[in-house]
Amino acid sequence: MNPLLMTPGPVPVPPEVLNVLALPIEHHRTAAFQQCFERVLGKLPALFGTSQRAFMHVSTGSGGMESLLVNVLNPGDRVAAVVSGKFGERWAEMAEAYGAHVDRFEVPWGDAVDVNAFELWLKNLANKPHIVMSQACETSTAVLHPIESMAKVIRQNHADTLFLVDAITALGALPLPMDAWDLDGVVGGSQKAFMLPTGLSFVAWSARAWKKIPHAKTPRFYFDIRDELTANLRGETNFSSGVPLVKALDVVLSQIDSFGGISALYKRIDCVARATRNSLDAMGFCLLARSPSPSLTAVCAPSGIDGAKWRGLLESKYELVLMGGQDRLKGKIVRLGHMGYIRDEDLMRALAALPNSVNELNAGTISTEKITAALAGAEACLKSVPMPWLAG
Ligand SMILES: Cc1ncc(COP(=O)(O)O)c(C=O)c1O
Repeated sequence: MNPLLMTPGPVPVPPEVLNVLALPIEHHRTAAFQQCFERVLGKLPALFGTSQRAFMHVSTGSGGMESLLVNVLNPGDRVAAVVSGKFGERWAEMAEAYGAHVDRFEVPWGDAVDVNAFELWLKNLANKPHIVMSQACETSTAVLHPIESMAKVIRQNHADTLFLVDAITALGALPLPMDAWDLDGVVGGSQKAFMLPTGLSFVAWSARAWKKIPHAKTPRFYFDIRDELTANLRGETNFSSGVPLVKALDVVLSQIDSFGGISALYKRIDCVARATRNSLDAMGFCLLARSPSPSLTAVCAPSGIDGAKWRGLLESKYELVLMGGQDRLKGKIVRLGHMGYIRDEDLMRALAALPNSVNELNAGTISTEKITAALAGAEACLKSVPMPWLAG
């Protein structure tokens, strides 16, 4: 058996992506690469649901978060940050590192933003925020936040406050139409729904944000989007391009075109998520997120089982690679990703490994009948929305 990667990023990538990644290295300042780069740049805005330009950085997702921020921030700005897990904490710290005054809207880990409480908190802030930041999906807890409603509340209360969204585990995985929801900045990452290895981040800003970009006083160099724009208008990147990743992205985007657009991917990811949640629930597992994102599921370690030990057994014996909990959730949960090249048999293997490993650690607490029935339910659910690659 090959190790089965089922983490919420990096994700398993389609065979066609692996093939293109194995091609000889090409230089980025060539006519052939320029064509590929421009094709990709032309297609990216549709994934954001924006009429603005979208950009790529050779960076992890965190680099994209930094880019989103430094291009609109002034030292001393007030930033209102939703903190509902590890990634929210980190983005708030990043804003502080760049000299922002950060007010934190703390959400219990595992909960989604309550829009009424959020609105009240925004209204009662002593200082109006220049920027509001939130994750769309907080990957450390698997929660999906109500971004559309949050955007409305922000706009109703503060006409020119910018709303920046970390959509690293949301962009490409679920609908997040940037223009229709009036979001001012969105960042995604290659190792998530884009089905590529880690190494590219994707960013876009609204027209409202673009008015602020030329005047932002935060020092910026690598991520200065004005220079990237100038280079992109020539069909180039400002610095070296991540050529293999961009070529692989070109393949992914043309696959998405060939199976009728991104909504086919949303449907499949949602189906994998439902099959996972329903079957684990039927087996008696507790799921952490009360408002779960389709992009991943966080499963609580059953009582008496240390999550790290459980994950270790899944890796060593079942050759199933999942992620554990971070920070205060360390040892308490394991997280399964639903993005990427996940075939029915892959998910079925993972769903069987979870109860079997628990039984091994805890002496037969989940009955065979329960497991069989839950797996049959998951299989039927998966068959109702086949993987788009294999459907046609
Ligand atoms: C919501 C969210 N934000 C930020 C990051 C950080 O991305 P990276 O590790 O690519 O820098 C991740 C990574 O998993 C994430 O899920």
